[in-house]
Amino acid sequence: MLPCQRHLFDIPDDVAYLNCAYMSPLMKPALEAGTAGLARKAHPWQITSDQFFTGSEEFRSVAARLVDCPADCIAIVPSASYGVATAARNLSVKKGQSILVLAEQFPSNYYPWQRRAEETGASLKIVPWPKNDDWSAAVLNALTDDVSVAALPHVQWTSGGRLDLVRIGEACRKIGAALVLDLTQSLGAVPFSVRDVQPDFAVAASYKWLLGPYSVGLLYVAPKWQGGMPLEENWIQRANARDFANLLYTENYDAGARRFDMGERSNFALLPAAVRAMKQLLEWEVAQVSETVGALNRQLANAAASLGFFAPAEPLRAPHYLALRRREAIPKELPEMLAREKVFISVRGSSIRVTPHVYNTAGDGERLIACLRRIATAGTSA
Ligand SMILES: Cc1ncc(COP(=O)(O)O)c(C=O)c1O
Repeated sequence: MLPCQRHLFDIPDDVAYLNCAYMSPLMKPALEAGTAGLARKAHPWQITSDQFFTGSEEFRSVAARLVDCPADCIAIVPSASYGVATAARNLSVKKGQSILVLAEQFPSNYYPWQRRAEETGASLKIVPWPKNDDWSAAVLNALTDDVSVAALPHVQWTSGGRLDLVRIGEACRKIGAALVLDLTQSLGAVPFSVRDVQPDFAVAASYKWLLGPYSVGLLYVAPKWQGGMPLEENWIQRANARDFANLLYTENYDAGARRFDMGERSNFALLPAAVRAMKQLLEWEVAQVSETVGALNRQLANAAASLGFFAPAEPLRAPHYLALRRREAIPKELPEMLAREKVFISVRGSSIRVTPHVYNTAGDGERLIACLRRIATAGTSA
């Protein structure tokens, strides 16, 4: 268990921020790294051609440690949707086959597959919300021979349901289906290893559980797809990019997954901030983050249960992700009502989504429970 890390963040004492799944706060050292990076553009004569590569390579190698793969397998992308679109462009889907997604799956990992299905005559196969909260069993049950691609998360974003990706990966390999993962709501908060799961593609936006800035993310590309087609053709993906005087024209791409990098990937402000945040996660260790945040969520789940709120139990629920439901509807305006008291959560689907991190104190949790108690006893007025 980690001691509270609030000192690394700029969170006022009276703010109970329990909404990391919406957007994590940038920690002070990451903000400093990003600010220093942005300031470098004031003196472009000091930015050497080498520096277009050093920051990117550092991002790749730190990101690779978080997903447990060689740095060569990491591409730098602006968003989860960009990573999913890259996968959709490269994977074969044929008429009559199906693409597997979950009920209420996040749109960035749904629309590209809907489009691909329309283009190819394949169908979308949607895993229904499991009554027993066991998303893994539901997915395993749906992985039949017709599935050509399983496009899944590690954690279902409206329920907090956790998927057993090792077993799902095995099942995909058995039927010859590709596995594409959106790890945006899990990477950094739940241990994950490419070696264990063996996905074909896995993407994570940086601005949630990777504690990084907005508009950058990592894309893992399995070696067998590294000869594929990128979404864009830009100069820095090519084999001759380091030779600024001779950029015209080559058929050859840079090594590994670098061909899938977005244009202007050497972002001097975003990459240092993202790298600093990922280094902090590695120093804490993701398993410890998971344990620490999980303990806080277990306390909250127990306290909320006595007020009539329920959530799936671990291990069916991911430790960092508490989606509280109750028999009565959750008032839509609840986030605004709580925000007036400086308690920050989200409502997603029919759940109150509570997603703390290592900056939260027991006091933050108590303030949330006090608000829920008032809702439970007085209808909707918090
Ligand atoms: C599961 C999941 N994936 C991806 C994203 C972000 O997608 P994108 O990076 O395409 O904006 C979110 C944002 O809430 C999310 O919850």
